[in-house]
Amino acid sequence: MKRYAVFGQPVLHSLSPRIHKAFAQQLGIDLDYTAIECAPGDFDGTLSSFARSGGDGANVTLPHKQRAAELCNLLSNRAKKAGAVNTLIKHEGGWLGDNTDGIGLIRDLTGRHGLDLRERRTLMLGAGGAARGVAPALLEAGIGELFIVNRDAQKADALSDLLGDPGRVHTRYMQDLGELGEFDLIVNATSAARHGALPTLPMTLFGPRSAAIDLSYGEAAVPFLAWARALGVRDFVDGLGMLVEQAAESFFLWHGQRPDTDAVYAALNERNATLMTAD
Ligand code: ATR
Repeated sequence: MKRYAVFGQPVLHSLSPRIHKAFAQQLGIDLDYTAIECAPGDFDGTLSSFARSGGDGANVTLPHKQRAAELCNLLSNRAKKAGAVNTLIKHEGGWLGDNTDGIGLIRDLTGRHGLDLRERRTLMLGAGGAARGVAPALLEAGIGELFIVNRDAQKADALSDLLGDPGRVHTRYMQDLGELGEFDLIVNATSAARHGALPTLPMTLFGPRSAAIDLSYGEAAVPFLAWARALGVRDFVDGLGMLVEQAAESFFLWHGQRPDTDAVYAALNERNATLMTAD
């Protein structure tokens, strides 16, 4: 039986084992997929012993995505652009690293939620691993200007430099958010809600045609999306669909087959929907 795992910390709550097992069942593939929790200092060793004991591929989540990129001897263009890896594919010489987060987000927004991203004036809150994973794909999908705002302004500048598109990508200070006007797309890529409160955001960011996206799902997505909804935003999307779509892309890289994501998304979203509609 082929062996896969997701590495992270914390990771025991991860939905990835459930998603991959559901895909495998759909397509009649026999696989084992577990969650492996390890601290940053143990990541290299834990991954090597997983490979030695027959591991065929892995997903990588917080806080190991950047380290995973360093450990690969081959990287896809997507992973190079993001400077982070969420999918490891074993090959003879070691690991090939890819990043399916960006394509996962775009498929969810355009396919599942029917959003046309082209020319959207976009605000990205945050410049950490999640922001790095999705920013290249948003630019590729044809958004208009991208403003990156982060508590630590240096990290916003570093991400902007990495993206290498100075005509479209700008950084601004958090305290200047009130002067930036209205956005067509606002992506919350901060982990603020997981650690406590959201930063204070001015009401002027949203107009009736804005879409609000939170890359988190479940309770962590509620503060930002509830706030957007209270301001009249009708298109609000959490990160559950992106999670399912990035998993489907990893699955395709490993097994060469595309699962039906809608059924898996619907099953997971049932619980989520209760959270999102609770006033
Ligand atoms: P992830 O992979 O989820 O992006 P990360 O790389 O640790 O995790 O990045 C977390 C992001 O959330 C960063 O942009 C961080 O801002 P800083 O770079 O200034 O630390 C942002 N963040 C976390 N807590 C926040 C808070 N309370 N207010 C605003 N931004 C916050």
